Amino acid sequence: MEETKSREKFSSGLAVFFATLGSAVGLGNIWKFPYLTGQYGGGAFLLVYFCCILFVGLPIMLGEFYIGRKARKNAVGALKQLKPGTSWKNIGIMGVGAAYMIMFFYSCVAGWVYFYLFKAISGDFIGITMETAKAQFGSVIMGPISPIIWQFIVMAVVASILAMGVKQGIEKITKTLMPLLFVLIIICDIRALTLPGAAEGVTFLFHVDFNQLTAAAILTALGLAFFKLSLGMGTMITYGSYFTEDNNMFGTAVKVALSDTLVSMLAGLAIFPTVFSFGMEPGAGPGLLFMTIPLVFSQMPFGSFLLVAFFFLTAIAATTAMLSLVEVPVAYWSEERGMPRKKAAVVNAVIIAVIGVLATLSVDKASMLGNITFFGMGFFDFFDYISSNILLPLGGLFIALMMGYAIKREEVVMELSNNGKLKIAKLVSVYFFLIRYVTPLLLIVVFLNSIGILKF
Ligand code: PFF
Repeated sequence: MEETKSREKFSSGLAVFFATLGSAVGLGNIWKFPYLTGQYGGGAFLLVYFCCILFVGLPIMLGEFYIGRKARKNAVGALKQLKPGTSWKNIGIMGVGAAYMIMFFYSCVAGWVYFYLFKAISGDFIGITMETAKAQFGSVIMGPISPIIWQFIVMAVVASILAMGVKQGIEKITKTLMPLLFVLIIICDIRALTLPGAAEGVTFLFHVDFNQLTAAAILTALGLAFFKLSLGMGTMITYGSYFTEDNNMFGTAVKVALSDTLVSMLAGLAIFPTVFSFGMEPGAGPGLLFMTIPLVFSQMPFGSFLLVAFFFLTAIAATTAMLSLVEVPVAYWSEERGMPRKKAAVVNAVIIAVIGVLATLSVDKASMLGNITFFGMGFFDFFDYISSNILLPLGGLFIALMMGYAIKREEVVMELSNNGKLKIAKLVSVYFFLIRYVTPLLLIVVFLNSIGILKF
């Protein structure tokens, strides 16, 4: 009890919103979402993605909030407390594992973003052309030393913020910088949408062609929904455990999912018009963002300044998302294993930076470790695939099953309604219908399909 009382909390509803949005908004919106939409054919992929958010993402997010706030513990401790002596705690353990896996490659891409910020400040992109943009990206990822140094810098920043704690660290940073990100993306959109040929990019993003909808596209959309909303790996359990007592968690979940999707769309609207305007390949893969954005800005007044601002804010988005990722093991180690919080932040940052080097050195086939493969994937792609497409949806499935079948409905109602203060009876009925039947069924079907048992 003592321990629960002295535990930190966010200080207000606004702080809850920005911290949670800070976790959701990250490289997923600005880097992953655009290139996956590009690779899987635009509008049809988007449509599936929206369905995944609505029918799978939102119910699971709310489930994680419930578990975290009810137990007021880290991902593993919360499950142990709500379901003592059962194996449900393994969801938390799997979550901690998934958080590490994601961080191994996420910290690498965040390192590129920091590096691009540094280059933008140094004026390296002045007079850039499509060819030089490609060449610059190639040399950044091939390194081999500089991307590793940047990855270490990223982890040092994350550890320092986490060491300051929940309020002074996570809350302060997210509340100050998230609103700025919106402003910057909108400025980018205005420029991108007024480029010659921009309409083609917008058409690409919104045009729905169901022939493009392969099974791989559906699984990827589902994985992306989990990744985007930071679900299936205990992040939202951990953050939920810091929520204020009077927070309307339904409202927070909907607001966060909507704002996050809006940021992804705004990022898509900045990137695709540029891609088409410059005759680039929309399915160019992970380098898409890094090759297009410097080009957009090189074409506009005050471009150099705005380019610095854009990469600064992308760095912020990546950093706030990483705070939530690393907070999962930090909270676990400090609460379950008794390690002081500051030490847990540093130890975890070191583990991630060291193993993350494997991802950084295997980004491309030609990279130093590019020829080491698992199931045909290098380390970088392997960490990404296993976490987004397997561990997160699997974690989500177990959360849905636990919420739907292993926890008493009255308890969920009490917690979600803040002990009866919020009138949410109808919402709760819809919630239980989704979490018991729709969400798990969709997850199971997509899974069976991905392992080839079910064909469609
Ligand atoms: N949601 C983040 C993004 O879209 O960039 C990434 C992420 C953060 C995934 C936290 C998972 C997580 F637990």
